[in-house]
Amino acid sequence: MSQKKSVSSSKAPRKTTASGRTQMIHGKPATHAWEFSRHLVPPITAATTFRLDSLERGAQGFLSFGADDTVEPILIYDRLDEPNTMMLEESLALMHNTDVAVSFASGMGAISSAILSVAKAGHKVLAHRTLYGCTYSLLNDWLPRFGIENTFIDVNSAEHRQLLEDPKVRILYFETVTNPILELADLPKIMSDVRKANKKRKADDQILVIVDNTFATPWGLRPADYGVDMVVESLTKNISGFGTEMGGAVMTSKKFCKALKLARKDFGAILNPRGAWQILVHGIPTLAVRYGQQQATAMKVAKFLEKHPKVERVIYPGLQSHPQAALAKKMLRTPEGDFAPGTMISFALKGDMRKCQKFVDHVAKNAYSVTLAVSLGVVKTLIEVPGFMTHSAIPSEKQSSSGIDAKAIRLSLGLEGADDIIADLAAGLAKV
Ligand SMILES: Cc1ncc(COP(=O)(O)O)c(C=O)c1O
Repeated sequence: MSQKKSVSSSKAPRKTTASGRTQMIHGKPATHAWEFSRHLVPPITAATTFRLDSLERGAQGFLSFGADDTVEPILIYDRLDEPNTMMLEESLALMHNTDVAVSFASGMGAISSAILSVAKAGHKVLAHRTLYGCTYSLLNDWLPRFGIENTFIDVNSAEHRQLLEDPKVRILYFETVTNPILELADLPKIMSDVRKANKKRKADDQILVIVDNTFATPWGLRPADYGVDMVVESLTKNISGFGTEMGGAVMTSKKFCKALKLARKDFGAILNPRGAWQILVHGIPTLAVRYGQQQATAMKVAKFLEKHPKVERVIYPGLQSHPQAALAKKMLRTPEGDFAPGTMISFALKGDMRKCQKFVDHVAKNAYSVTLAVSLGVVKTLIEVPGFMTHSAIPSEKQSSSGIDAKAIRLSLGLEGADDIIADLAAGLAKV
């Protein structure tokens, strides 16, 4: 690695007009992160610290840290910047049409750093009522200790969005496709109201919109195209895809890059280079293929469940019965323009919680292709009950106002044959 000259992955920087699918395999045509003109894939880097050839350059490295991701960085120490994570960040920014991406140790590392990089005591976060359990506890249990308040609203309600007029509100936070109930945030309407509210505010007082796009992934939705300020994603899920890595990232414009990297440096939630390498080399290049296949299976399974007499309701953005089916068709699109309703299903059985428990326990003990486990978006099909597992940080008395039905079951479809998954679910349903 030479830190003296500008480096690139090929002799001359190439420009690309290639499709999103192809860009996910080849990444950015030229990178400042590493000179690997002989490698087909970037090597794994494993040095925590970097050789510097003068004190002046060392000092310059600290001074220029985080300033502008497109300028050749002076590498100093892994917790600041590191070649594998930088290359991953370039690919993520490319997929999201943003200036930069900043990686983190996990999705929660990305969410907490995104909020903490911009929020101050006295600010309020206006957040959608349905959130991943740990995001809810971050907003509700931790941030108020530092004077950062919250109000939970229905972000799709124009009436609730009037709270954007509250001068304390500085962040609007929501999931583009909510975990666990697969509700869509109406980005065109929400962003139009945010722009109206921001017109009345001073430049340093603007409301920033931070969205979690984990369920949709950049293959299904690119929220920065709608004007949101920061897109956060857990890389642990579909993007990494194999259930072997944890990671998170914030995709955003240059103006937020420095604050995010400083937050990462000082809070320390860095993505380890080996994890970044796996996601860069295995996860991203296979995302389009995995997502396409998993969502085709999700559609078949959703249709099977919808017709089953023991099933009370099925929520899947690809079904006509989804309450926001038209919005889903508009917003959930691959970079190639195809409908991308996703790889997640929520469903509930007729009857009470005991039925739900009996079914899930039967699947856990007997199914071959469906596993009772948290997490999602990986090559194996996973089932869980959010009200008692991933979303249990939300107190049970608050779950219904958060849109969570205790007996709802979440299914994350993997790459197994759809008929095998359906057979396992059918066997469980036969027992209740
Ligand atoms: C929608 C959503 N956002 C964020 C996270 C947190 O990601 P991580 O587990 O990588 O911290 C999760 C985890 O399940 C999630 O489902």
